[in-house]
Amino acid sequence: MNILLLGSGGREHALAWKIAQSEKCEKLFIAPGNAGTASVGENVDIKADDFESLKKFAVDNNIDMIVVGPEDPLVKGVYDDFRDDERTKHIPVIGPSKAGAVLEGSKDFAKRFMKRHNIPTAKYETFDGTTLEEGLKFLETLKAPYVLKADGLCAGKGVLILPTLEEAKKELREMLGGMFGNASARVVIEEFLSGIECSVFVLTDGKNYQILPEAKDYKRIGEHDTGLNTGGMGSVSPVPFADEAWMKKVDERIIRPTVDGLANDGIDYKGFIFFGLINVDGEPMVIEYNCRMGDPETESVMLRLKSDIVDLFEGVATASLDKCTVEFDERAVVCVMLVSGGYPEAYKKGYVINGIENVADSVVFHSGTALKDGNVVTNGGRVIAVSSYGKDKEEALNKSFDAAQKIEFTDKYFRRDIGQDL
Ligand code: AMP
Ligand code: GLY
Repeated sequence: MNILLLGSGGREHALAWKIAQSEKCEKLFIAPGNAGTASVGENVDIKADDFESLKKFAVDNNIDMIVVGPEDPLVKGVYDDFRDDERTKHIPVIGPSKAGAVLEGSKDFAKRFMKRHNIPTAKYETFDGTTLEEGLKFLETLKAPYVLKADGLCAGKGVLILPTLEEAKKELREMLGGMFGNASARVVIEEFLSGIECSVFVLTDGKNYQILPEAKDYKRIGEHDTGLNTGGMGSVSPVPFADEAWMKKVDERIIRPTVDGLANDGIDYKGFIFFGLINVDGEPMVIEYNCRMGDPETESVMLRLKSDIVDLFEGVATASLDKCTVEFDERAVVCVMLVSGGYPEAYKKGYVINGIENVADSVVFHSGTALKDGNVVTNGGRVIAVSSYGKDKEEALNKSFDAAQKIEFTDKYFRRDIGQDL
């Protein structure tokens, strides 16, 4: 089978690494890919949202399946575009339709969906420019801290958690006044939930689903969850509190109602669903949905998935996921992200990366790298993810540290406490 994977980050390198291990995969192309994906497949210089060029490439290269990494092409309708074109309608796209991707693309839609299908989530109301006064009054009925969410996609920056009512009112005014452009034309205000978060992933064919290994990610730049939010500084799998009993609740109260809800609402959804959950006194609740895998969770999850991922994708494409099985590796995995000094604020690119070849006991995934004059150089805030197995998370963490120290580039930074809060 010839497979075309869309995207260019650490998540896509991890997906490419896993896809390339399948005997069913003859040729793997990644558009546009990065310096790491080039080592497991062939990079194609096409942007992940240039649908016309992607379709032409797919036809010319006898592509049998498209796998979509990031949310952007999904929200823009890559599934629908391939399906509605005579030349490409036979090629399955692993990823939801545009209507399904709205689960991630609009917080208000996701909240209404959960309410309609009785899925546990924080209480909320949505406001726009015409209902600012009502929004300010609604804030007065809540307890601190206050959670404000821009309705639309904001590259992970659209959620504000404010300690005082005064700040919450000020930020609500600013958000509705265009702080995030059109994305904050509507704002969801919700009850603050207190607990530890956990990312749960499923693959669905629209009716059946399979649950993949869960993970926890670490978003803040500083150790012990301090400082600014980032795209993710590391991840760990498994998550100890996500035991059989807890996952049974997740399955019965959240996953099944979500998959059934999508089907009952007539939404075409064949791909990953990422449930951003929080454990509130032992009860799972949904913080958010994403229509793709997590980054850097994928860099842990792919190591723990023993089954052939292309088998699972075929199950999605042929609506026969119930016939597939998913086997987990029992070992723990910890992923540590090496980032550019200064990130998530200003940082420099183009530093040569040395020492990757000295890493023996970990898997190295590239996030933001490029090839320049024969060297691998830094090309983003998040540069390299190192993932390691261990008999427990301490052993896995230590191996990832060793690897993190062997890889060198100017102003490298990483967190040393991934998984230590659990
Ligand atoms: P989201 O983009 O909706 O996942 O929100 C980003 C982050 O904000 C989440 O990962 C949580 O850490 C936090 N967050 C969002 N909603 C809530 C909530 N209702 N209560 C507590 N924390 C929240
Ligand atoms: N790690 C969280 C995300 O991918 O959105």
